Amino acid sequence: MGLQEDVATVLVSEQNIQARVAALAREIEAHYTDDTPLLLVCVLKGAFMFLADLSRQLQIPHEIDFMETSSYGAGTESSGVVRILLDLERNIEGRHVLIIEDIIDSGRTLQYITRNLRTRNPASVKVCTLLSKPSRRVIDVPVDWIGFEIPDAFVVGYGLDYAEVYRNVPFIGVLKAEVYE
Ligand code: PRP
Repeated sequence: MGLQEDVATVLVSEQNIQARVAALAREIEAHYTDDTPLLLVCVLKGAFMFLADLSRQLQIPHEIDFMETSSYGAGTESSGVVRILLDLERNIEGRHVLIIEDIIDSGRTLQYITRNLRTRNPASVKVCTLLSKPSRRVIDVPVDWIGFEIPDAFVVGYGLDYAEVYRNVPFIGVLKAEVYE
């Protein structure tokens, strides 16, 4: 196992990610213009790097909190069952909630999280994801900001893993099929 042997191509370069994150931050700043507190909810683990870069780019006050859900076993396919492994620390009532995801695939995780958070009476719930695979969508869940729409390939890097490694890679790479087949 090694980056050179396992990654076939670079799908989104570090430079392209950083430019897109900055552009997303400008769009998000333009949207949240009232005095209601803004809370970024980072969905662990994959979104940690996107959250860190987006938060640093945002020039409006905001808090951050973390949730972790699990819908995947050891394989590459979603089981369809979503569980909360770690819940938010704080009460979100009256706050603008912006869910930060690394990737939306079937949409099951996002549907579960948005429905769950809406029951807690936030001022609003919106969604920002770095990546989306539209061809994989099973549930048509609304997404407010998307960094990149990508094809149905097994991608790693910038928070995304294969068997828990490669999250640290600063670009989005496509894993060679022979690695996970
Ligand atoms: C990934 C990703 C989303 C979810 C998307 O998380 O971060 O939360 O899967 O898939 P879906 O649209 O089919 O529900 P994963 O369960 O792999 O956990 P991780 O972020 O900790 O790696």
